[in-house]
Amino acid sequence: MPNEGSYEAALKKSDSVQADLTVHPEKYTMLTGDRPTGRLHLGHYFGTLRERVRLQDMGIRTNIVIADYQVITDRDTTEHIRDNVFNMVVDYMACGIDPEKTMIFTHSAVPAENQLMLPFLSLVTEAEMERNPTVKAEQEASGHALTGLLLTYPVHQACDILFCKGNIVPVGRDQLPHIEITSKIARRFNERYAPVFPEVTGLLTSTPLLPGLDGRKMSKSYGNAISLSMTAEETAKLIKKSKTDSERNITFDPENRPGVSALLTTAGICTGRDPKEIADEIGMGGAGQLKRYVTESVNSYFAPIRARREELLQDPDYIWDVLHQGNERANVIAQQTLGEVREAMGMVY
Ligand code: TRP
Repeated sequence: MPNEGSYEAALKKSDSVQADLTVHPEKYTMLTGDRPTGRLHLGHYFGTLRERVRLQDMGIRTNIVIADYQVITDRDTTEHIRDNVFNMVVDYMACGIDPEKTMIFTHSAVPAENQLMLPFLSLVTEAEMERNPTVKAEQEASGHALTGLLLTYPVHQACDILFCKGNIVPVGRDQLPHIEITSKIARRFNERYAPVFPEVTGLLTSTPLLPGLDGRKMSKSYGNAISLSMTAEETAKLIKKSKTDSERNITFDPENRPGVSALLTTAGICTGRDPKEIADEIGMGGAGQLKRYVTESVNSYFAPIRARREELLQDPDYIWDVLHQGNERANVIAQQTLGEVREAMGMVY
């Protein structure tokens, strides 16, 4: 976690860019992405997908990387990767990502992007990489040894952001160290060789983290996440078996009643209501009534998105086309940037 001072500074910068976005959308290029390790869920949707669509529709150049090489930072299999990549494209589009406006691509299909890794690695020290708190946390959570790829993946993310001259990256507070390292790399490259890369700003999202149904961090492996791709029935089942507590009266108290409160937060975010107000309304109606309300809230919010999903699934070739076209565009941009990098470094032969 960056210290308070640098957080304050990052927030100030984020706010000023946020204000400028509506005035000068043409100045901005967004890059963000996801690891294709499973299905996208409500945490992704309210945390970032919705924001991506907003930025896209403001006329900002928007780019999404499906970070397939990042899958192997902390696991030793690429099982299901093709299916995950496919469903990720479907989820994006179901949520409102328009491939005419937003470039969707996978790392592994864009060699020139990956090649930026070599000059970039020369711009950071081992100590700087070791200090990254996100890397440490991820390594501990994975229970695997720290691989070279996990240690250096923040540099790889800098390649993702900088190959398309991305200058805004929507992030949560815990992701700020990644923005810092990307900025450092851009600055150092520009100083050492020639100005090729933009200044990068992390757009701090104001949405608080949506907890999983049991109040813990939302994660597929905890079984506490509602995926966008679940049916209304699957959603109802998952909510029904979520853990609450023995107190009948429903109150919003995340500290002492994580299960009940997570359900209230979920209903709140889907209905736009204050969770406390929902709690007061249900009161002695108990967990059963609460769960029915949450199920109804989630299912009605996501009904149109899920319907669109079903529609998209009718034509898998089209989904693959979208990705192939995104990859093609990304290759053109990456070649262009790599050309500038070679030029700046005097490596044109
Ligand atoms: N690490 C991100 C995730 O786990 C995915 C990602 C890859 C990314 N490259 C990026 C995010 C660059 C922002 C910028 O979902």
